[in-house]
Amino acid sequence: MGRFQPGQIRDGIAECLSRNPGEGASIGEIERYLEEAFGEVVPSSSIRSYLQLNTPGKFERLGRGRYRLADALSEESAEPDQVKLKGKPVFKHGKTRLFQADSLEWLASQPENSIHGVVTDPPYGLVEYTPMELAKLRAGRGGTWRIPPSFDGHTRAPLPRFTTLSSSELDDLERFFRRFGETLKPVLVPGAHVMVAANPLVSHLVSYALDAAGFERRGEIVRLVTTMRGGDRPKNAHEEFSDVSVMPRSNWEPWLLFRKPTEGTVAQNLRKWGTGGLRRISAERPFGDVIQSAPTHAKERKLANHPSLKPQAFLRQVVRAILPLGEGTVLDPFAGSGSTLAAAEAVGYQSVGVELDPTYADLAARSIPLLAALPDRVRLVEVDPVTPEAVDSISVEG
Ligand SMILES: C[S@@+](CC[C@H](N)C(=O)[O-])C[C@H]1O[C@@H](n2cnc3c(N)ncnc32)[C@H](O)[C@@H]1O
Repeated sequence: MGRFQPGQIRDGIAECLSRNPGEGASIGEIERYLEEAFGEVVPSSSIRSYLQLNTPGKFERLGRGRYRLADALSEESAEPDQVKLKGKPVFKHGKTRLFQADSLEWLASQPENSIHGVVTDPPYGLVEYTPMELAKLRAGRGGTWRIPPSFDGHTRAPLPRFTTLSSSELDDLERFFRRFGETLKPVLVPGAHVMVAANPLVSHLVSYALDAAGFERRGEIVRLVTTMRGGDRPKNAHEEFSDVSVMPRSNWEPWLLFRKPTEGTVAQNLRKWGTGGLRRISAERPFGDVIQSAPTHAKERKLANHPSLKPQAFLRQVVRAILPLGEGTVLDPFAGSGSTLAAAEAVGYQSVGVELDPTYADLAARSIPLLAALPDRVRLVEVDPVTPEAVDSISVEG
């Protein structure tokens, strides 16, 4: 490998692919091209790793082991009223585009100032969505995923065990969010808001990392929801310490709110970029930071069987708020089953999602149209009698 100059193999691959921009080439074809060009064999394993390293930034995987230059596709992905992005979406529906890729790599290849808001629910253990852990989840046993106890005869959705993260995994998590923030920032227009689902055990690390990446902390949205986290008695000593819980039963979920710094005042930024503030619910009601919610309804789980599915009633409220003038493009870089994108579609916004796992990307392609079509006023929220306006608040009409 030391025989080649830095970048020589990558440039050779690009040269080979540029000969047939539409069809691209297989690994075998690239291997033969490079052998001819360099006068010596470049092992197919090296070609594969260069392709993987630079996909989707420079190269695009077409399936069946074929690749082509990502640039060759960039113009295809957008309708006239959509922002042009690099790469080819695996799915389009209405104003929604979904890309199957690693979001950090994807973001690194996108044009600056193209996204106007982010609403996302990222992976937290950073291991729970690796292929090995997903295989365990899909096989129904072990690993990071646990099935919460059933207390009412209903089977609960699996939850990742965040408390098992070691201190080095927590450091990795902070580094991951710092890198995510730094890669995301240039792609956002000034004043774009970023809303990130977290949980009370790790939200401080995410907040610190996004702050360090140059975002301004703008608050925290409290999603009121009774979760299955915490509240358990000490392990293997339930009877001995029957009056003790190890941690509080969690009745809320933090959604961190950040903003890329504005250019000038909020009013100037709104005029130039359409961002900088949050869309009001109505003339009388600003968007608030406590939202009554409920676990995702079984109806929605049937449409989108993802272990971290978030409910439409909640997502439609936050997605609507993220574009202050209702104009621009919302991104979910960890799209899962596409619930954020479905919410954007339901409120009439352009949206873009990125999902790494091909099975979830397929699921999103099936789920987005179904979730987006759910009516707004369906009783997706169990109404707390103290806040009867919760049902009204899921209307997206403002
Ligand atoms: C917490 S889930 C999001 C679920 C989503 N809120 C829903 O309602 O379906 C996080 C998703 O991010 C995906 N993911 C993990 N790492 C990723 C990466 N580097 N790039 C893109 N997606 C990733 C996982 O496969 C998973 O589907």
